[in-house]
Amino acid sequence: MKLLVMGPPGAGKGSQSKKLVEEYDLTSISTGEMFREAYKRGEKLGIEAMEYIKEGNLVDDDITNEIVYQRLKKKGPDSRFLLDGYPRTVKQAEALDKMLADIGSRLTAVINIVVDYDAILERMVGRRVCKSCSETYHTMFRPPNVEGVCDVCSGELYQREDDKPASVKNRLNIYESKTRPIIDYYKGRGVLVNINGMQSFEAVYSDIKRALRELRHD
Ligand code: AP5
Repeated sequence: MKLLVMGPPGAGKGSQSKKLVEEYDLTSISTGEMFREAYKRGEKLGIEAMEYIKEGNLVDDDITNEIVYQRLKKKGPDSRFLLDGYPRTVKQAEALDKMLADIGSRLTAVINIVVDYDAILERMVGRRVCKSCSETYHTMFRPPNVEGVCDVCSGELYQREDDKPASVKNRLNIYESKTRPIIDYYKGRGVLVNINGMQSFEAVYSDIKRALRELRHD
C-alpha cells in the first residue's frame, strides 16, 4: 500500500498517519518530522529548514523533493509507504509523479482530511509534542496522564514554535494558495478520498479504513 495523507495544518494528519503506519506496516515519510529531526540533530538541513518552519513558511521545493526522493529510492518499488505532509505544492506533486515512475511505483490512495478552520486553530494552539519521541497530545482532546509529561517515554512536552497564532495564520494562508490546488491535481485519478476530520480520532480512523477497503490496493 502506498498512501498520501493530506489536509490543512492541524487536520490530524500526523495522528491518523501514526496509526495507519502501525496497522498496515508502512514506512512513514513525514517531511515536517524529517525537518524537525534534522534540526534536533543539529544538521545544516534542519537548521536552515527551521528558519522557514517557525515563520509558517514552506521549505524550498527542490530541497524537499530531494529528501523524499532519497527516502523513496532507498525503499525501492515494492516498498509500502505513507507520505504525510508531502507534496505541498503542485511542483512537488509533479516531482512525486516523476519519482514514483522512476522507481516503478504509484499511489494507492490520497486521503484528504477535511476540517473547519475554527477547529484547526483550537487544535494547534492546544497541541503538545514530546521532545524525545514526538508523540502528540492535546491539552483538551488528548491530554497526557501527567501534565507536561509524555505517557510513552516520560519525555518533556513542548509547544511547537509554528503553533503560535501568527505562524498558524501564515500556514493557513499558504495552505489555501499553494497546497489546496493539489486536491484538483489528484481528482479524476480515482485515488482521492475525502474524509470528514470533524469527528473523534476513532471515527476519523474508521472512515479512513473503510475508504481503503473500498479502494483496490497492492
Ligand atoms: P508538518 O509537520 O507536516 O505540519 P502540518 O502539515 O502543518 O501539520 P501539523 O503537524 O501541524 O498537523 P497534523 O495535520 O499532523 O495534525 P495533528 O495530528 O498533529 O510541517 C511543518 C512545517 O514543515 C510546514 O509548515 C513547513 O514549513 C515544513 N514542511 C513540511 N513539509 C513540507 C513540504 N512538503 N514542503 C515544504 N515545507 C514543508 O493534530 C493536531 C492537534 O489536533 C493535535 O494536538 C491532536 O491531538 C489534535 N487532534 C487531531 N485529530 C483530532 C480529532 N479528530 N479531534 C480532536 N483533536 C484532534
